[in-house]
Amino acid sequence: MNVAIIGCGGIARAHAECVREFEEDHLVAVADIDREAAERFAAQWGGKPFPTVENLLAETLPDAAIVCTPPNTHRAVVSALLTAGVPVLCEKPLAHIVRDAEALADLAGETGLPAYVAYCHRFNPAARLMRDYVGQGRTGRVHTFRNAFIGFAPHLTTAWRTEPDISGGGCLMDNGSHSVDLQQFILGPIADVYASLHFDGQGRGDVAADLLTISESGVAGLISVSYVSPKPEARFEIIGNEMALEYDYATSGATVTAYRPGHDPERLPLPAGCDVRFIEQYRAFREALQGRPTDLATFEDGLSVSRIIDRCQRQAGITGGIA
Ligand SMILES: NC(=O)c1ccc[n+]([C@@H]2O[C@H](COP(=O)([O-])OP(=O)(O)OC[C@H]3O[C@@H](n4cnc5c(N)ncnc54)[C@H](O)[C@@H]3O)[C@@H](O)[C@H]2O)c1
Repeated sequence: MNVAIIGCGGIARAHAECVREFEEDHLVAVADIDREAAERFAAQWGGKPFPTVENLLAETLPDAAIVCTPPNTHRAVVSALLTAGVPVLCEKPLAHIVRDAEALADLAGETGLPAYVAYCHRFNPAARLMRDYVGQGRTGRVHTFRNAFIGFAPHLTTAWRTEPDISGGGCLMDNGSHSVDLQQFILGPIADVYASLHFDGQGRGDVAADLLTISESGVAGLISVSYVSPKPEARFEIIGNEMALEYDYATSGATVTAYRPGHDPERLPLPAGCDVRFIEQYRAFREALQGRPTDLATFEDGLSVSRIIDRCQRQAGITGGIA
């Protein structure tokens, strides 16, 4: 498979590593508006460097593209690819504003091309185990989903991540979009949300947020995300009346801890730990292109996350993530 990567910054590396893992796959082209970034990236990972997605498409038609540009560019970049007939895996969030996410979901529907959002935590084997246990009724009635993606990353409070024109908000859009997708992946659609957003600077997006989400099935989700928490925490758990399941990114490794009444906590083995999420996501993308069923987030899934985050921002008295 001939693959292109658009946007040659931080996360592009993780995707290039995945392409390299498959002998049959070749990174044939990369694009970045920062020409030097494209050239450096191509020198390290392969492919011909281009300054824009349009230049790239004028010269080569890859079998698939991975979009790794900032959210405010996703609509233009992904539209160019889909219009040219190229299937897409687009980094999260689908877009920085709901209007763009809607336009992309519509375009994906019209073209019928494979188009997915890279909500990689779905491919943490722990998330899939929890989803399967819930589906099989092994947890009993699930009451609660708890998730934290919090840590101390003050540099992000002045980076594009908290520039609403680029990111669409701040930490909620960045980390929280993963959280909302994870809850929906494991426990089904969220029907309602109450949010508290925390800001640090005028005109900038949130640096932390706490959410209470209520899923259609009645599960309450308690989600905390932060760039400014001195206490790092990356974990999620579900609590059912017959079983609670917990995964901690720092300590669980390739296990999920199961709690059952009358039993000691039990470490359930996973095929691998959370580190495999990018490679498993890429494997799923390849399989989806071959027509196989997929757990990848569709553009409709991505749009639903964007709508939930927009609702949180409106509750905070803002639109488009601006303090
Ligand atoms: N799944 C994850 O865990 C994860 C982690 C980090 C970032 N991301 C997502 O990946 C995307 C990129 O984030 P990043 O951290 O790599 O950002 P980055 O700033 O490190 O890199 C973005 C690159 O895109 C380039 N670019 C900007 N506009 C462009 C355009 N129109 N065409 C071509 N290139 C363009 C920039 O010059 C830059 O080199 C974002 O959507 C972000 O939310 C996801």
